[in-house]
Amino acid sequence: MRKNIVAGNWKMNKTLQEGVQLAADVRQALAAAGAVKCDVILAPPFIHLTEVVKTVGGQVEVSAQNCAAEASGAYTGEVSAAMVKSTGCTYVILGHSERRSYYGETNAILAKKVRLALDNGLKVIFCVGEVLAERESGKHFDVVGKQLKEGLFGLSAEDFAKIVVAYEPVWAIGTGKTATSVEAQDMHAFIRKAIAAQYGVQLADDTTILYGGSCNGGNAAELFACPDVDGGLIGGASLTAEKFMQIVTAF
Ligand code: PGA
Repeated sequence: MRKNIVAGNWKMNKTLQEGVQLAADVRQALAAAGAVKCDVILAPPFIHLTEVVKTVGGQVEVSAQNCAAEASGAYTGEVSAAMVKSTGCTYVILGHSERRSYYGETNAILAKKVRLALDNGLKVIFCVGEVLAERESGKHFDVVGKQLKEGLFGLSAEDFAKIVVAYEPVWAIGTGKTATSVEAQDMHAFIRKAIAAQYGVQLADDTTILYGGSCNGGNAAELFACPDVDGGLIGGASLTAEKFMQIVTAF
């Protein structure tokens, strides 16, 4: 069954103490809101994971923002999928455009990371999305199709069932420029079709596809009303409980 999800990607923001406070604020706001129509995920920096898992107390799932492409060993500064899992975290975000562009993460590297994450019992939020020049030259469907094919479509159907796809047009991330609901729906429908072609209609229909890129309390309801948009991956607007909750309650 397809789930609605709103996930907050804190990126490199918040000290440990600030992060624990934000997690506590989100937990409290969720309790006050009563039943919400989506699963909520928080993705803080690595060093916050253990404390945030404790703070949210099972009300919210917790995700890392990345993991290493190797299982263990002499990789100074890296954090493995097994380490992430051992914090009590259940998800990892892989393939975020900031990782792809600033840290040279290719589809081949990401496919390795996805394998390790799944082997260690983590679910994966896998990000895809085109840059502005690719959209303007009409290549956006090709780019996203290639990211899906090379990053994910080597998986078995059983493994693919643990994947959440996040469509994040790079030109919309942190820019205040959101994709229109038509642009988002068109790409989400394309992604679902590609999944159907690879794994069949049932699994495609069950896959959660999130939108990310300047999603906020003012535009979330319209985006989430699109038939193939199943929630959001939220950066800037996940950094206060108040703004984040406006999105969580937008379904
Ligand atoms: P933004 O970031 O909401 O700040 O645009 C989204 C993301 O990069 O996940």
